[in-house]
Amino acid sequence: KVVGLLFGGRSAEHDVSRMSAANILRALDPAHYEIVPIGIRRDGRWFLGNAAATDAKSLEIPSDAPEVTLPPGRNGELFALGDASRAPLRLDVVFPVLHGPNGEDGTVQGLLELAGVPYVGSGVMGSAASMDKDVAKRLLRDAGLPIVPYLTLTDHDPVDYIAATVAVGSPELFIKPANMGSSVGVSPAKTPAEFARACELAFRYDRKIIVERSVAGAREIECSVLEEASGALRASPLGEIVPASSHGFYSYDAKYEDAAGADLRIPAALSPEQARHAQELAIAAFRVLCCEGLARVDFFIDPRDPKSLFVNEINTLPGFTAISMYPKLWEAGGLPQRGLMEALIGHALA
Ligand code: DAL
Ligand code: MG
Repeated sequence: KVVGLLFGGRSAEHDVSRMSAANILRALDPAHYEIVPIGIRRDGRWFLGNAAATDAKSLEIPSDAPEVTLPPGRNGELFALGDASRAPLRLDVVFPVLHGPNGEDGTVQGLLELAGVPYVGSGVMGSAASMDKDVAKRLLRDAGLPIVPYLTLTDHDPVDYIAATVAVGSPELFIKPANMGSSVGVSPAKTPAEFARACELAFRYDRKIIVERSVAGAREIECSVLEEASGALRASPLGEIVPASSHGFYSYDAKYEDAAGADLRIPAALSPEQARHAQELAIAAFRVLCCEGLARVDFFIDPRDPKSLFVNEINTLPGFTAISMYPKLWEAGGLPQRGLMEALIGHALA
């Protein structure tokens, strides 16, 4: 099978995607798959990458690569090389290893639907509904799943700290762009000045932001969900993220810039009942948000109420970097990365 690996992309998670793609390229069994990496530069142009697996942390987009154009083809012929004299690239399946807007939000998925190429992961609806934290939270809340109180602001709304604290019931807040990942544009605030700065930063990434109640000292728990080719859903063992105290929360730097930025504990120290409850909630969230193939569901536990469990968010194209939980949790669950790739591609082709 010819697997197109889309990576890079126009979002602020471009670098994270290149790290994820390097790991996925290594994890795909070359005896089973012919891999065609396609790198998307920050300006949105697509280029043919180099399929040779390397030890590099990030997959490169070669500077002399041929450009790939996007005629509205069909039956896997979407990706023609810019040079019309060359045969179209035929892909059996695409793995969109893209994080954030223009990749994880249903846009690329829609393109692949139009082209008639099977792809790994959620379709247009699951991708779009999960990417937008405001829409995702409304759907989760409507289904009766536990979320922390939050408020949505658009760039037409006043930035009013007091009103926000009243709306979410706490003076301590987290401010996030509605559509983004890897904690890009996220900051805490507990004063009007911090709130104004935090909103200004989040609005740089999106015209809609969310203001959440900050759960003091929240434990961060994550669960990987995998849909088998049969449609059965599996939830992995749970993992816990303990950000280094120097970072305060699991920020972009704690994730990718500082090797000691966070501790990953697998399995998370939870009672068997709590772990089962989290796995059930992960599968419920996956269903509510119409996800397909894979997703990582992230939770908070309030340390003052150890039985509490809030769904923080759901990532339809979770990170596959060297520090990322999604593949690590499956390894802990007895599914090594090579088998995980078979399962993901098997689901896409089912
Ligand atoms: N958005 C990043 C890649 C994650 O959820 O892992
Ligand atoms: Mg995310």
